[in-house]
Amino acid sequence: MARGKKLYEGKAKVLYEGPEPGTIVQYFKDDATAFNAEKKDVIDGKGVLNNRLSEFFMLGLDQIGVPTHFLKRLNMREQLVRRCEIVPLEIIVRNFAAGSMAKRLGMEEGTKLPRPIIEYSYKDDALGDPLVPEEYIAAFGWASQHDMDDIYSIAMRVNDYLSGVMYGVGIKLIDFKIEVGRVFEGDFQRLVVADEISPDSCRLWDIETGKKLDKDVFRQDLGNLTDAYTEVAHRLGVLPKNP
Ligand code: C5P
Repeated sequence: MARGKKLYEGKAKVLYEGPEPGTIVQYFKDDATAFNAEKKDVIDGKGVLNNRLSEFFMLGLDQIGVPTHFLKRLNMREQLVRRCEIVPLEIIVRNFAAGSMAKRLGMEEGTKLPRPIIEYSYKDDALGDPLVPEEYIAAFGWASQHDMDDIYSIAMRVNDYLSGVMYGVGIKLIDFKIEVGRVFEGDFQRLVVADEISPDSCRLWDIETGKKLDKDVFRQDLGNLTDAYTEVAHRLGVLPKNP
């Protein structure tokens, strides 16, 4: 499918104008970055895996009535998505302590949290996506109270869905990040899950062994990232296993 002009290039994806108004072609690169792009590499095949995995999760969400931007996968690296106005927040849901939360609170990684905890970062690379209280979100007008109620409910439904799907294949969902966007239909506005859901944006640990199957493999130099993502894809049946 012919792509239109490039609209945006991020760390892991490129967005192009789509073939019809209101659509975008989302291209998944092989680039991996961590620590706000201080650590960088190109990981062969990562983009292909994330394109497939994100398609799988977005379709699963659609089936349980959580709206997403996903329209269809176009090829190995591209998917067609609905154009939306991204809410400038990274929405993080945690089930177990890890990453920045474990560090901030001096908790051991893997400690079960009393309940799923949601937190918000303001999307700004130059500032390193700082954690922000809901008070800032309201005061600076990044999202209305109505949006925040929707965001909370979407995030918890995504957590239920993803935790269940992962648990079914022997994987513990430690935490994840989503982004949401506003889609306008006449006077009506609704929020949809946008961007991607993939092992780049989740922490996934094998239930039995605790082996990490997500981007921490890259962040912490734990081995081959493509192998980890391929294992997730195989377990979910997203990619056929080699005979
Ligand atoms: O680093 P931190 O512990 O705050 O990350 C929480 C979750 O959000 C992790 O699954 C991480 O991969 C994801 N995340 C992300 N993009 C960011 C920051 C965090 O996908 N910019």
